[in-house]
Order: sequence, then structure tokens, then C-alpha cells
Amino acid sequence: MNTLLRRCKYLARRAITLWSDLMCEADGRYLQRRLSRIAGLTIADGVIFKGLPLIEIRKGGQVFIGKGTQINSLNAGYHFNMHSPAKLVADREGATIRIGENTRLHGTCIHAYRSVVIGNHCLIGGNCQILDCSGHELCFDNVENRINTTSDGIPVVVEDCVWMGANCIVLPGVRIGRGSVIAAGSVVTRDIPPMVVAAGNPAKVVQADARIYAASRRLTSSESVNRTELVGGQLV
Ligand SMILES: CC(C)(COP(=O)(O)OP(=O)(O)OC[C@H]1O[C@@H](n2cnc3c(N)ncnc32)[C@H](O)[C@@H]1OP(=O)(O)O)[C@@H](O)C(=O)NCCC(=O)NCCS
Repeated sequence: MNTLLRRCKYLARRAITLWSDLMCEADGRYLQRRLSRIAGLTIADGVIFKGLPLIEIRKGGQVFIGKGTQINSLNAGYHFNMHSPAKLVADREGATIRIGENTRLHGTCIHAYRSVVIGNHCLIGGNCQILDCSGHELCFDNVENRINTTSDGIPVVVEDCVWMGANCIVLPGVRIGRGSVIAAGSVVTRDIPPMVVAAGNPAKVVQADARIYAASRRLTSSESVNRTELVGGQLV
């Protein structure tokens, strides 16, 4: 009987999710109306939700989504396999998530105990996790109690124009500088300067001058261009 009940609940939840997805595909205003009832959520003009994100805001928390930003929770139509909808959790009184303008998030999880800021014109690939808290304390003096502990939040900042490849994890206290690229699957444990390519676990700078790097990459796919001319020219 219990199994039947669980199965029914599961099917009901699936049906609601499917219905919401269909509704917001057909009429984005339905989703806007539905989300605008969430206390603490501010949605600027021109924000596009694809599919239903999960947004949880504790009393006294806040989530701001800037003009023209897209929050994608639909796997269909996205070129990477997205495992779950976008999830924004402002998990304490005073916790803030601020997402800038013209940014794109694909199935990203952002979890804030204090503050996570994502800049303007950022591209955050599928399944990234951006957290300002580890969830639990290390707690080596009483390991049995670790499960009952909660860690503090240390603010995270992703500056403007950052491109984060799919499946990255950004850990508490990190700042990623303007224009940088974080390669797919990286775990970012320390600050990353602006305009670099960083990769790996822990993420390290693999290319310090991203503009010269980008120019040389373009050259490999276009043999007709003279490398010296391009690298010596205007790299904008
Ligand atoms: C960052 C990125 C764009 C760089 O691409 P690229 O210019 O072709 O890079 P390269 O393959 O020349 O790699 C440069 C160096 O970084 C390393 N590197 C690149 N991606 C890496 C990764 N994900 N993890 C670890 N190291 C990586 C390479 O091994 C190489 O190191 P080497 O010089 O010691 O050999 C690409 O690796 C990437 O991660 N793309 C993200 C794609 C994605 O997730 N898209 C979906 C979301 S929109």
C-alpha cells in the first residue's frame, strides 16, 4: 500500500513538472506569474525561464535576477546533457543570490548561506554547482557529531563575462575574475584572476593571456592566416 502511495505521489509530481514545462514553453508569463509569488524573489524585465527552476528562499533571504538573463531548466534543446533543473537556494536569513544582466544559467545549482554574486554576460554551463558553504564543519574533535554541524557561508563572486564549462564546482570564498574561462569539470578552490583560462581539480591557470591564446586557437582552424600578423595585431 505504501509503495503504491509513493508511486502515485511520484507520478503526480512528474505530471505537475511536465505540465509546468509545457505551460512555460507555451506561455512564459504563466511561469513568471507562478514564480513571482515566491517571497524574496526579484525578477527584472526580460528574464527568460526555460522550464521550471527550483527556487527556495528562507525567510529573510533574497534572490535577484537581472534584466535579460536566461535560466534554463530544460534538457531538451540544450547541447549538453543537463541532469536537473536550475536550483537557487538562499538558505538563511540574510542570504543573497544576485545574478546580473544578460547572463545564462543551464541547470546550475547556486546555494548561498551568505552571498553568491554572478555578474553580467556570464555563461554558466550545464550542471555547475556554485556554493558559498560546505554544508558541514570539518569537526575532527567529535566526528560522530559532524553530521549535526553546519558550516558558515563565505561569499562567492563570479565577475562579469565569465564562461564556466559544464560540470564545474565553485567552492566557498572564491572570486573568479572578469572574462575568465573555467574549463569543463573544474573544481575552483581558490581565486582565479581576470582574463585567463583555468582548468582542473583544483583549477589552475592553464593560459594566462586568454586573448593571445584565443588568437592562436583561431589560427589552428584557419591555416591561411599568418600567426605573427595576428598575434602582433590588435587582439580584441
Ligand atoms: C576551456 C576550453 C574552452 C579550452 O578549449 P581549448 O582551447 O580547445 O583547450 P585545449 O584543449 O587546447 O587545452 C589547453 C590546456 O588546458 C587543458 N584543459 C583543457 N580543458 C581542460 C579540462 N576541462 N580539464 C583539465 N584540463 C583541461 C588541456 O589539457 C591543455 O593543457 P596542456 O596545454 O598542458 O596540454 C575547453 O577545454 C572547455 O572546457 N570547454 C567547455 C565546453 C563546455 O563545457 N560547454 C558546455 C557549456 S556552454
